[in-house]
Amino acid sequence: MPTATSGVSNEPIQRIAADVKLGRNVRIFGFTNLYGCEIGDDVKIGTFVEIQKGAKIGHRCKISSHTFICEGVTLEDEVFIGHNVVFTNDRYPRSTANGRMQTEADWACIPTLVKRGASIGSGAVLLCGITVGENAMIGAGSVVTKDGPAGATVAGNPARVVKSKNVRT
Ligand SMILES: CC(C)(COP(=O)(O)OP(=O)(O)OC[C@H]1O[C@@H](n2cnc3c(N)ncnc32)[C@H](O)[C@@H]1OP(=O)(O)O)[C@@H](O)C(=O)NCCC(=O)NCCS
Repeated sequence: MPTATSGVSNEPIQRIAADVKLGRNVRIFGFTNLYGCEIGDDVKIGTFVEIQKGAKIGHRCKISSHTFICEGVTLEDEVFIGHNVVFTNDRYPRSTANGRMQTEADWACIPTLVKRGASIGSGAVLLCGITVGENAMIGAGSVVTKDGPAGATVAGNPARVVKSKNVRT
């Protein structure tokens, strides 16, 4: 609570909309914005994470700070998401349609699936319409344009398989 002298609050500021389906034992840090999404049990969500409507987060996932998870994204159980990871759901984004601001009627959300046990390194960008396979590892800073094979390590821009098996497989 703010003190009379400092005016500083240590209470975490979070926006967790009433329509969020939260599992058990979910830990959410400050400055997060969650709406219309589903979060499984035992999930940890870091500071400055936004999770949009329609996104689904499985059980025991860890989502590190500054990450953006948009509509259309599904994370299965035990997925790790590094810091500042950006998902996308529109391959050809535009501000306007026929000279007026676009509405949801003007575009189709393209889904992305991250399968069980996969990890996405910090700063990665995932283009939409792809599947990251089970236990796959995506390198830091990668731009992922295609499906990532199960158990492989995929890295770079554009991301390529750098190891067909990673330490978990
Ligand atoms: C992808 C990663 C797991 C690979 O680790 P590794 O299995 O030990 O692989 P290596 O270091 O042996 O690298 C294999 C090759 O991939 C390249 N590479 C590794 N990571 C890369 C990355 N992030 N982007 C581009 N290329 C990468 C290496 O340069 C090497 O290339 P070479 O064979 O031409 O020399 C690791 O580099 C990484 O990015 N981890 C994510 C870290 C992170 O974001 N953590 C989040 C929270 S702290």
